[in-house]
Amino acid sequence: MTKKQDLAWWQKTIAYEIYPKSFYDTAAQGTGTIAGITAKLDYLASLGVGAIWITPCYKSPMVDNGYDVEDYREIDPSFGTMADMDELIARGREKGVRVVMDLVFNHTSEQCPWFQESRKSRDNAYADWYIWRDARPDGSAPTNWRSIFGGSAWAWCEERQQYYLHTFAPQQPDLNWENPDVRRALLHTFAPQQPDLNWENPDVRRALIDIANFWADKGVGGFRIDAITYIKKPAVFADGPADGEDGMYAVHAATANTPGILDFLHEFKAGVRDGRDIFLVGEANGVGADELGDWVGERGVFDMLFEFSHTKAVSCEDEVWCRPIEWKLTDLKRVLAESQANTADNGWYPVFFENHDQPRSTVNFFRCEGPAAAKAKALGTVLLTLRGTPFVMQGEELGYANRVWKSLDEFDDLQTRSQYEFALSEGRTEAEALAGCNRFSRDNARTPMQWDANASAGFSAATPWLPVHDDYTQVNVEAESADPDSPLSWYRKLAALRAERDELVAGSFEELMADDEQVYAYRRQGEGGAAVVLANLSGEEASYDAALVADMKLLAGTHGSTEPGTLRPLEAVVFGD
Ligand code: NOJ
Repeated sequence: MTKKQDLAWWQKTIAYEIYPKSFYDTAAQGTGTIAGITAKLDYLASLGVGAIWITPCYKSPMVDNGYDVEDYREIDPSFGTMADMDELIARGREKGVRVVMDLVFNHTSEQCPWFQESRKSRDNAYADWYIWRDARPDGSAPTNWRSIFGGSAWAWCEERQQYYLHTFAPQQPDLNWENPDVRRALLHTFAPQQPDLNWENPDVRRALIDIANFWADKGVGGFRIDAITYIKKPAVFADGPADGEDGMYAVHAATANTPGILDFLHEFKAGVRDGRDIFLVGEANGVGADELGDWVGERGVFDMLFEFSHTKAVSCEDEVWCRPIEWKLTDLKRVLAESQANTADNGWYPVFFENHDQPRSTVNFFRCEGPAAAKAKALGTVLLTLRGTPFVMQGEELGYANRVWKSLDEFDDLQTRSQYEFALSEGRTEAEALAGCNRFSRDNARTPMQWDANASAGFSAATPWLPVHDDYTQVNVEAESADPDSPLSWYRKLAALRAERDELVAGSFEELMADDEQVYAYRRQGEGGAAVVLANLSGEEASYDAALVADMKLLAGTHGSTEPGTLRPLEAVVFGD
């Protein structure tokens, strides 16, 4: 049986995702800053957070809010300076909060000097660093692949008289991982301890190694690796199903999780992870819970993998927002159980219900009506007690709901716009298209963090770049800290319980009541004790067999005291022996 003392620091901690543009603005500019994160380290530490994943803050034209990187070794001026980042990493380490950088390696910005060079001709030094193809004889794109953000995945380059591939926006050209120079450049940016990867020119090598050391010496705690399943393209570029037959995402099938991808990634692991006290978590859309064994742990590449079987279980067909699906609690529980089983003895599971690409969980994971605060506490109980490292999205601990968006103009996200257009092209009305965006838009997770009841929720002294949620006068850190029944107080309580009770971190996971459509229940068995968690995720009263918690005491309950055997709507309890 796993013992807590044998686990790595990142398995025992709570991780927290920061969308820096929306976290805290120290510059009165309407967008968040790195210094703003440093200013809030005590807040993060008070939640038991030991790792903060910061979405990309490198120099970027910000077409996709930083996921279009121009220079991997510079901080974007809108966030501050490298000195601010050094300060954050150093102060964070003092407080036990380590920074996790987001590596965007499937693509760069079109402004990246590599692409600027690559686009000039077919025979320059960077010519082969991206995926270039000739047009078909009639001038059309080489395949019918769709980009994830809508439209063709190919963009025409006049200068080179060729098309280039972009899995995401046209301003995010895909790198050619087949080219060893590309892999080497990416590795060297972050992996100084592998100086001898066949580098020809020693001056170049030294310069790059210095830059790489520059990052590693900063003492980051790990890396989240973006869109990693798309880095390997198929050997033959063939058309996918025609538009309309298989949704708008034919490109997914064509370029995701292509055979051979794991060879690339093992090379990456050897260069980056080995010998360091850091963790790697990959974002792996397209990998199923049943494939986890090849991706994580001893045999795999990553320490943890964000796979999306549970968000897909509750979301929409082919990720098309105007086609939501019907789902049952048992659908969700089944895939979560599969992920638990597949990481029980190998690898580790990153538990998450939200991130910056998902709607708020108080909407996404519930089919019943009821207050967002109660839903946040019930689901937060699961987030903090399932086996794995919990990843809390900023604001999730406050019980955010989706915002009510009145028109398309209020949104910033480029994917939201393309989904709106797509809904119209499928024959939906404008009101229906807007409703789909309200329900699923990524901007729901990106509205400014609510610190207090002052103007702009204390986020900024200027007008925020994205509207603050209307509920900010009640849903904010200051108000919730003062309220013992708030989601924030509940998160703090559970974080303290996790720290105290070894079985909540290291204990095994055994699902209880797997067929129940209201209650999510499981037992965590540790060496020295056991806990049983029961969360009623429905809006109706629910019952369970009180024998499940016989001889146990209530460690924490969302509704205060509880009657063993029954759960009020949205009530969650943790019992322990
Ligand atoms: C996944 C990121 O989480 C998302 O925000 C981004 O738009 C795409 N990858 C492209 O980098």
